[in-house]
Amino acid sequence: MAFFGDKTYLGAEIGTTTIKLVELIKSGKEIRLKNYGILETYGYLERFNNALQTSSLKALESEISAYLSIILQRAKIRSRNATVSLPAFSAFTTLIELPDIPEGELPSAMAFQAKQYVPLPIASVKLDYIKVGERTDENGLKLQQIFLVSIPNEQIDRYQKIFNGASLNLNALEVEGMSLARVLTKGIKEATMIVDLGARSTSFAVAKDGFLRFEAQTDFAGGSLTQALASGMNISPRRAEELKQQRGLLAAGAESELSTLMLPILDVIINEARRAKENFEKSYKEGITSLVLTGGGANLLGIEDYFTKQLAVKTVRANPFRNIIYPPEIEPIIKKSGPAFAVALGAAIRNLV
Ligand SMILES: Nc1ncnc2c1ncn2[C@@H]1O[C@H](COP(=O)(O)OP(=O)(O)OP(=O)(O)O)[C@@H](O)[C@H]1O
Ligand SMILES: [Mg+2]
Repeated sequence: MAFFGDKTYLGAEIGTTTIKLVELIKSGKEIRLKNYGILETYGYLERFNNALQTSSLKALESEISAYLSIILQRAKIRSRNATVSLPAFSAFTTLIELPDIPEGELPSAMAFQAKQYVPLPIASVKLDYIKVGERTDENGLKLQQIFLVSIPNEQIDRYQKIFNGASLNLNALEVEGMSLARVLTKGIKEATMIVDLGARSTSFAVAKDGFLRFEAQTDFAGGSLTQALASGMNISPRRAEELKQQRGLLAAGAESELSTLMLPILDVIINEARRAKENFEKSYKEGITSLVLTGGGANLLGIEDYFTKQLAVKTVRANPFRNIIYPPEIEPIIKKSGPAFAVALGAAIRNLV
């Protein structure tokens, strides 16, 4: 029952292989999980090779609206107000350094600066920015560091259409890294790297106390691991996916071929993480001391230890539901699938904190 003053809210992630919705309710200071839903899309594994190509990812808006409607109905979700998170590759983010000008002058300075950094005409994007730090350069000049996010209007229109098509009000759009930062790093004062291992892409977000500071991305991801197994063992993508999920990196004996085939791909992802870490540390002059794995790929058995060893940075699997109240009987689901819902959860919380 919704009491007076209770607020419900939806967060959504439209991933390459899945659509996820999380419905939260806030009463007083408590945030509870009201409902969640996940739907696998596009017959991903059947069209495995196609699914890795960008063009086929452009599923029709009407198709995605229909999927959203199905989740709303099946999960009995009532809220109609939603925030959606966009993958890093559909937006543009960068760190800008400006002299320490008065706050009131920031909007016009940013409008001017953004032209130099954003690869699209400024009129065709929506800009959002936040001051994330300060530093003094070699000449003693004080600089403020601004994190700039620009989302093409074309993307905004597309998502508006998709959500309206499912009778939802799309109240906000943000990049996935912002949602992840909010849900995984609030209250943590040291810089943390969040690695989101999806199906089609892996993103590297550096965040501090709930805010995104830096973002990078690679196309090597969960799908690449499955593909390496399928072609290396000459088995179907579906079988490869099963083996990957059941055994992960822990298979021994005759099955150690699984690790032999997957580790080179993981090494590529880890090298990208190292590069992102070094880039962040150079720009911000501060170190990253911990790493959190999220997205479906975070469930790969043995992955935390492998990351910790290769990167020499303590790596853990994300627990995005740590500050959310949920019924005890779904604990096993939260344990198993929690990381896959991190983005949608972070988006849902946007309007509740
Ligand atoms: N138990 C598991 N072990 C290993 N990998 C897993 C496991 N469960 C799911 N995955 C992988 O997680 C990936 C899907 O993750 P997720 O749901 O985060 O992706 P997505 O959001 O749809 O994709 P993207 O973010 O790339 O658009 C798939 O590659 C899948 O194989
Ligand atoms: Mg994803």
